[in-house]
Amino acid sequence: MKGFIFDLDGVIVDTAKYHYLAWKNLADHLGIDFTSEDNEKFKGVSRKRCLELLLEMGNLEVSDEQFNAWLEEKNEDYLKYIGGMDASEILPEVPRVLNYLREKDVPMALGSASKNAVRILEKVGLTEYFETVVDGTQVVKAKPDPEVFLIAASRLGLSPEACVVVEDAQAGIAAANSAGMYSLGIGETEVLSEADTVFRDFTEMQASFLDEVLQLERK
Ligand code: BG6
Ligand code: MG
Repeated sequence: MKGFIFDLDGVIVDTAKYHYLAWKNLADHLGIDFTSEDNEKFKGVSRKRCLELLLEMGNLEVSDEQFNAWLEEKNEDYLKYIGGMDASEILPEVPRVLNYLREKDVPMALGSASKNAVRILEKVGLTEYFETVVDGTQVVKAKPDPEVFLIAASRLGLSPEACVVVEDAQAGIAAANSAGMYSLGIGETEVLSEADTVFRDFTEMQASFLDEVLQLERK
């Protein structure tokens, strides 16, 4: 493996909780029951797809105009939650891992479904670590389609087989696997059972593991 592609929400920063809160507010407003378990399916998935899933849960069919208004409402709510974000919301030991990889000259990219990714990276001060950022404004097909990671790999000048993807979402692990990349899950083993390796969080991602995965060769 030669390069790393990191997801953002739920991997680098704890924004997954804010997405959940904003969807929950909209679900409450629409009278739809929405639990944190339901929210697993929303992770890694585009904003538009999330709203489609929510409306399916409530058996609601709406006009394009109403659909777009709710998309906007959810995002405005989300932006309020992330408005005050700063470096304190970087997840534990993420900087240690980023610094370790940077010291070893391992190229790194961000591969996120979010249209707010650039804004969040800037807020927490991590922009400089990434050679390239591929976000929700640049892809046509959302995760579990591998497009976002394939673009990131090609911008890093690497073949998909040489990339490690770090992801907290089922859709993201599926995207990495279908790209032929090494999938590293962050979260619960039961939820991310398709991943090549799962760590609860970055505190478990020790230098010995990073060295090992960088030695790994895949054809
Ligand atoms: C992903 C999140 O990173 O971005 C999803 O895991 C979210 O939950 C998606 O729906 C889109 O984010 P945004 O910021 O464009 O609404
Ligand atoms: Mg995520």
